[in-house]
Amino acid sequence: MTSFIKPSVLKLAGYASPPQKEFRVKLNQNESPFDVPQFLKDEVAETIKTAPWNRYPVNESPELLQKLAAWHGVKSQQILLGNGSNQLFQTLLTATLEPGDKVLYTTPTFSLYHLYTDIYDGKPVEIPQPPGEDYPLERFQKAIASLNPKLTIICSPNNPTGFELQRETVEQICRATQGLVFFDEAYGEFSDWSAVSLLAKHDNILISRTFSKAFSMAGLRFGYFIGNEKVIRELRKVNLPYNVNIFTEMAALRLLQERRAMQQQVDYLKVERRRLYAELKKIRGIEVFASAANFLLVKGPDELDLFR
Ligand SMILES: Cc1ncc(COP(=O)(O)O)c(C=O)c1O
Repeated sequence: MTSFIKPSVLKLAGYASPPQKEFRVKLNQNESPFDVPQFLKDEVAETIKTAPWNRYPVNESPELLQKLAAWHGVKSQQILLGNGSNQLFQTLLTATLEPGDKVLYTTPTFSLYHLYTDIYDGKPVEIPQPPGEDYPLERFQKAIASLNPKLTIICSPNNPTGFELQRETVEQICRATQGLVFFDEAYGEFSDWSAVSLLAKHDNILISRTFSKAFSMAGLRFGYFIGNEKVIRELRKVNLPYNVNIFTEMAALRLLQERRAMQQQVDYLKVERRRLYAELKKIRGIEVFASAANFLLVKGPDELDLFR
């Protein structure tokens, strides 16, 4: 019954969605612990009540494009909007990956890179970077030189280790490759620098951002790419039309006005990250790793089921 399914899909295990409701304290998806304040939810809900639900949204909300562009100091034409940044990652692979193309990244990292490279019949090239170890730049450069990857993925701060690359290292990678450098900045708000500043110098870097973490909006699904205008123009052709619904659009526009409150939460989480790191370090038998994100990776002895 499934002979019509692509072999690359048949052999997959698929994305296992972690349990949502069984735990009182939920730490495994790196969401914000703070929900959007009730008064803001009420405001957005009021606006949505009078908006026409029978009409398609304006495709690629010009207001969102313009507000995001102003925030990041780029042109609107450099931004692409998505139903979460994962949806845009799929757009990217649809537009770039042909069977056999190589996709280079370090492991452990976000599981979707492997999953979608497989689905598109690409070839994942994984270079290990165990937690606590430095970025394997030399191995990376050698892999770029010998394999000519179509995509090089940098997740910084990295999920799940929290490791953050230095600006100079990213520039070296941009200079080394003929392909595209996909820079996943899902946790960018928690780091002290953003790769957006590299766009002026390197036209082969594409940055992915999300409202799912610092903006507390994982449930509404909103993310965006920032890149070279020419690259974005091509990706736009492939991106599904009307992928951002009116509810998400209104909530994102409203939350963009609350950037100062978002920044305060980020600052608070960074202080707590430091405190928790120091406290966890005192516990014998577990290892905790320095993190530039909104989470800490902790390793325990085999018999200790930390998650449970
Ligand atoms: C590195 C990384 N990128 C992207 C995402 C997902 O982002 P979005 O909710 O915008 O699809 C996650 C979520 O955990 C992540 O860890």
